[in-house]
Amino acid sequence: MNRLLATLALASCTIGIHAQVQGMDEFVSGLMQKMTLEEKLGQLNLLPGGDITTGAAMETQVGTLAKNGQLGGIFNIKGVDKIRELQEVAVKRSRLGIPLIVGMDVVHGYETIFPIPLALSCSWDMQAIEESTRIAAKEASADGINWTYSPMVDIARDARWGRIAEGSGEDPFLGSECAKAMVLGYQGKADGTDMMNNNDRIMACVKHFTMYGASEAGRDYNTVDMSRQCMLNYYLPPYRAAVDAGVGSVMSSFNIVDYVPATANKWLLTDVLRSDWGFNGFVVTDYNSIGEMPIWGTGTLKSASARALKAGTDMDMCSNGFLTTLAQSLKEGTVTEEQINTACRRILEAKYKLGLFNDPYKYCVPSRVKKDIFTKEHRQTARRIAAETFVLLKNEGNVLPLQKKGTIALIGPLAHNRANMEGTWCVAAVHEKYPTLYEAMKEVVGSKAKVLYAQGSNICRDAALQEAGAFGKQTPRGDDNVLREEALRIAQQADVIVCAMGESAEMSGESSSRANLELFDVQHELLEALTQLGKPIILLNFAGRPTVLAWEKKNLPAIMNVWFGGSETGPAICDVLFGKTSPSGKLSVSLPQSTGQEPLYYNHMNTGRPVKEGADRYYKYQSNYMDVRNDPLYPFGYGLSYTTFKYSDIRLSRGTMTSTDSITATVTVSNTGSYDADEIVQLYIHDKESSSVRPVKELKGFQRIHLTRGESKEVTFTITPSMLSYYDYDCHFTLEPGQFDIMIGTNSTSLSRSLLIVE
Ligand code: BGC
Repeated sequence: MNRLLATLALASCTIGIHAQVQGMDEFVSGLMQKMTLEEKLGQLNLLPGGDITTGAAMETQVGTLAKNGQLGGIFNIKGVDKIRELQEVAVKRSRLGIPLIVGMDVVHGYETIFPIPLALSCSWDMQAIEESTRIAAKEASADGINWTYSPMVDIARDARWGRIAEGSGEDPFLGSECAKAMVLGYQGKADGTDMMNNNDRIMACVKHFTMYGASEAGRDYNTVDMSRQCMLNYYLPPYRAAVDAGVGSVMSSFNIVDYVPATANKWLLTDVLRSDWGFNGFVVTDYNSIGEMPIWGTGTLKSASARALKAGTDMDMCSNGFLTTLAQSLKEGTVTEEQINTACRRILEAKYKLGLFNDPYKYCVPSRVKKDIFTKEHRQTARRIAAETFVLLKNEGNVLPLQKKGTIALIGPLAHNRANMEGTWCVAAVHEKYPTLYEAMKEVVGSKAKVLYAQGSNICRDAALQEAGAFGKQTPRGDDNVLREEALRIAQQADVIVCAMGESAEMSGESSSRANLELFDVQHELLEALTQLGKPIILLNFAGRPTVLAWEKKNLPAIMNVWFGGSETGPAICDVLFGKTSPSGKLSVSLPQSTGQEPLYYNHMNTGRPVKEGADRYYKYQSNYMDVRNDPLYPFGYGLSYTTFKYSDIRLSRGTMTSTDSITATVTVSNTGSYDADEIVQLYIHDKESSSVRPVKELKGFQRIHLTRGESKEVTFTITPSMLSYYDYDCHFTLEPGQFDIMIGTNSTSLSRSLLIVE
């Protein structure tokens, strides 16, 4: 064991989460004795389901492979009938009748779509997040799916990276909590019994292992280069949390880690994941990752496949490298039979844990489709949760909530745009089934107010960019001058203007990096023109990433970030706009003043030449920009409510502690405004004396509380030694004595502070 491993092992405490599943070893060993080498390799092969016409599964490529025992699983195929047919081919036509595992990117819902994961994390509501994935599992499993490629837990500090939309933002603590909640929602109890005994839970797959979110310059699939300390302290914790919650599978990432593609990185896939963390599920590659290794210049398909297997990869998504080259590598001695057996065993174990050997059609019950998918109850839950994810950034003069009266002009390319409400990665969504914001608003206000609509502008002036960002979710294009004139005419008739603007749904997500994070040209011009009318304007910003809203902050009275709220976006926005619910979302990412600040994150290091937090001018020979301030436009943890909250000073149970005890920190939070509302109380710490440089602050706890008007509550956090510990230069998880700032408040910059001394 090398030095790093020895020390990591010290920090491991949860080995053995997956209790031995009864009868599994014996069953799998018995089955494997009957398997040929080819059949074993077949289990390691995963392919997209493709387009299957009902009744013709046998004739497809995957059908033929399934019949020949050359396929372990399929993914991203929708429809229980088609899936059942393929399953029947595997079970009835192949020699050993081993069922397929059936995957899909069920990333934020199946047909009932929840807000994109980035938005979900802004709810800071772990119960809600768990509920969202429980419902996603129920719907997906009713339609034949038993495995989802979620949660995506990549920490993302750079908003240029489009896949920031798929994760839980920039913070490892919040990200870990979200990861845990998601895994529990999909799979049920960490011991796997819910998944084994029911057919409405599915296996989760935490991705992308790992550091994918640190793609250089925010360009997708790009190089990653990171110190071990950075990995251990900031990037790995959410994966670890998913493993501790019992996640059944892990997807490796496209990027390199220490200059070795993650797909073939033994340190990552075996030493950290299995030896240190005790993971005993299976590892699948990302889409054709093995096939990409030759492009990196790290071998041929044959040598890359051998390297990936030896590093700890069990299943090959799409490259066909395992299927077509490992037998030859075995002959040549570059892989062993034991390595192939180990991978095969892990795949069979996953199928066993899902109960597929008991009943291969467990997830193929057509009668569930009507009963369990896109139900009224699921949609109501999605609506409630979506309303929790919106972040109110500005509300000057209490423009919001709106009253249902007079004339409301609803303007913008996202206002009546069904396909773009749900956000990225919704393989199973049927957007025809849910309303646009305009339709929802008309329904909600009824006869009490008049709602006028105009598209107002294209998404952006550049038609090619708009088209590239549509990816099947088109926004109609028109002449920008004509669209603007129409919008101004409509706005003139209104008492208040609500603008639904931003990027389209697929301008974030995979392969959607952007080098400019401002609101698009034509939308900005439209906003400028609208401000000339002198009427109150509310900007609803649709985005899958932080947007630069500097001009908007200066010139508009109200801004709410609504991200992409899923199928119930329209009604949920109305719930908040008209005051049925007070906004409670808080940013899980920092919103920049300017794109040039990226990567931008609150838990940064101080430097030896810092400027003060909030400094608004340039200081020579200090660490700052000449042309833009250092701090974000809106900080991590920020979000307004319709009410106001007051925080007391912090009361520590003791001002000193040792490395073996704990203390409590308490504040009293009061609702001093005139709405009942939720508040998210946040705890941060700062290690003031450490051998390695530590962040200026780090989130270590939060509580979502409800306060009625005039109500006060005490909120207490227990501060434990592990909250004050970190991975030091030697990668020891260590608590160093000295001074710590304990900070509690309503966001990462409005905090009261108390000093704790650790002896
Ligand atoms: C993505 C994964 C996804 C996989 C299968 C890849 O391109 O990176 O997140 O799970 O495709 O659809």
